[in-house]
Amino acid sequence: MLVSGKEILQKANEGGYAVGAFNTSNLEITQAIIEAAEEEKAPVIIQVSMSAIKYAGIENIAAIVITAAKNASVPVALHLDHGTDFNVVMQCLRNGWTSIMFDGSKYPFEENVAITKNIVNIAHPMGVSVEAELGKIGGTEDHITVDEREATMTDPDEAVRFVEQTGVDYLAIAIGTAHGVYKGEPKLDFDRLQKIKSLLKMPIVLHGASGVPEESIVKAVKLGVNKINIDTDLRQAFDSAIRSYLNENPNQYDPRKILAAPREAMKKVVAQKIRMFGSSGKA
Ligand code: G3H
Ligand code: 13P
Ligand code: ZN
Ligand code: NA
Repeated sequence: MLVSGKEILQKANEGGYAVGAFNTSNLEITQAIIEAAEEEKAPVIIQVSMSAIKYAGIENIAAIVITAAKNASVPVALHLDHGTDFNVVMQCLRNGWTSIMFDGSKYPFEENVAITKNIVNIAHPMGVSVEAELGKIGGTEDHITVDEREATMTDPDEAVRFVEQTGVDYLAIAIGTAHGVYKGEPKLDFDRLQKIKSLLKMPIVLHGASGVPEESIVKAVKLGVNKINIDTDLRQAFDSAIRSYLNENPNQYDPRKILAAPREAMKKVVAQKIRMFGSSGKA
């Protein structure tokens, strides 16, 4: 069933587990995510970035995810990942999204508050939940020092003011994770996470979770993370599975045959993450 993000994440917050938020841009990734969630009897969040919307077409990707979600035996939310453009947020509301991230992390605090609050005021009466980002969750390619990274992390007191002033439903925080493939092992600031959770008590979102070791994920969930974003790990599973399939079957030209192997590989990754996050059997 298609539900709001808040419905899924409030339960996760109460139950002390995290729900996987997996990025999709096509039919096969969406099927992999929903089939794995159904087998694990887990709630799941399917998220689409602005560039994925551009790739697939907003009505196409909405139709794929919403149809699959409505037919699913588990709760599924359709979420906009890193919405930075007000107009795209409005288009998602119009096209049936049940959860929106407004990412105003590039703006100064007051401006981030003002735009986020405006989006909350529009989305909430429509039953759509809102995620915001405070601090900056960068990419691994950024040539920045440890001190510079620290300066981009979420300030706990600022987080309290941000949530009070905007009324967001869940908050993405910067505690040392990054988007994409890590060069070394990511160092998470667990003290910062614990401080933020003790002050906010609301669902907390961890971005850039691909490549984070299992023990760090498990610890982050224990300390209050309830939504965990995974994109790169699915892309890499797709990539290696399709390459090896084509190597072994150089004469195959049926897209349905070619895409079956990567779909299965992504499904395995989704199921493994769901178990790691603690949401297996929570549907
Ligand atoms: O955080 C970014 C997500 O992995 C989406 O990336 O903009 O390439 O779709 P994308
Ligand atoms: P990864 O690509 O590192 O999994 O990050 C995904 C993400 O945070 C999407 O918002
Ligand atoms: Zn992200
Ligand atoms: Na990552």
